[in-house]
Amino acid sequence: MIGPPDPFASDRFPRSSRYDPEWIIAAISGGANSLWLAEWLAAAMPLRAGMRVLDLGCGRGASSIFLHQEFGVQVWATDLWFSVDERARRICDAGVADAVFPIHADARALPFAAGFFDAVVSIDSFVYYGTDDLYLSYLARFVRPGAAIGIAGAGLTREIDGATPEHLQAWWEPSMSCLHSPELWRRHWERSGVATVELADAMPDGWRCWLDWQQAVAPGNTVEIEALTADRGRHLGYVRAVARRTDRSLDEPIVSVPVIYQERPVRRT
Ligand SMILES: C[S@@+](CC[C@H](N)C(=O)[O-])C[C@H]1O[C@@H](n2cnc3c(N)ncnc32)[C@H](O)[C@@H]1O
Repeated sequence: MIGPPDPFASDRFPRSSRYDPEWIIAAISGGANSLWLAEWLAAAMPLRAGMRVLDLGCGRGASSIFLHQEFGVQVWATDLWFSVDERARRICDAGVADAVFPIHADARALPFAAGFFDAVVSIDSFVYYGTDDLYLSYLARFVRPGAAIGIAGAGLTREIDGATPEHLQAWWEPSMSCLHSPELWRRHWERSGVATVELADAMPDGWRCWLDWQQAVAPGNTVEIEALTADRGRHLGYVRAVARRTDRSLDEPIVSVPVIYQERPVRRT
């Protein structure tokens, strides 16, 4: 019997296609299919069984479970906005509670030991904190030298300098300024000096995946669907970047600056 194409089964994402659509939908925490992005990112990262991986901004944890099930890595499923208890239930029900650990934390105040992780992945989340010039140096502290740090998510195929293009204006809002191109991530990370960028690219026809996903799970989101359809990848797409931490020593984080109060008259006497 020939029916409509299954938006959850795709030759481009063979690993993700094995997951139950209802399970994926029940774990949605953003505007993209986190399994597709995790699969695409993992293809460019050395993930081996037993590695300790930080899934930063993992939302409701689908990508963390996926990474463990597909690559045998241990995952610290860390997120700020979504309930850590709901994530813990999902992890438990998936039968992976011995290898996927739900953590509630802010990416800017991570509760981990220096050098603890063998890799960091961040799916559709890094834009919320990672453009801070100091952030990669901060994050690098938590991985061993040589470890890979990878991000993937919605972004721009090229930077928009100047006014927002006419065909994107109905969808665009100020927070969209956090979307960036692979070239921007490459420059931003290389400048930090703490990591060497191995790859920064856009998914071929990533805009179609973005559009397919919106049409499958949020067909009423016509403003975004119309923007993607009109743009056809000229600006919008999925981007990823992978860097390796160098062995350069990192500054210790400043947590307090000791000072001694000295009493002095405020005005000249
Ligand atoms: C668009 S959602 C993506 C979630 C998930 N990775 C996915 O792809 O479905 C962005 C995620 O970034 C997380 N996030 C944003 N700012 C954060 C921060 N400062 N620390 C930790 N997570 C943060 C949010 O909690 C949210 O789950």
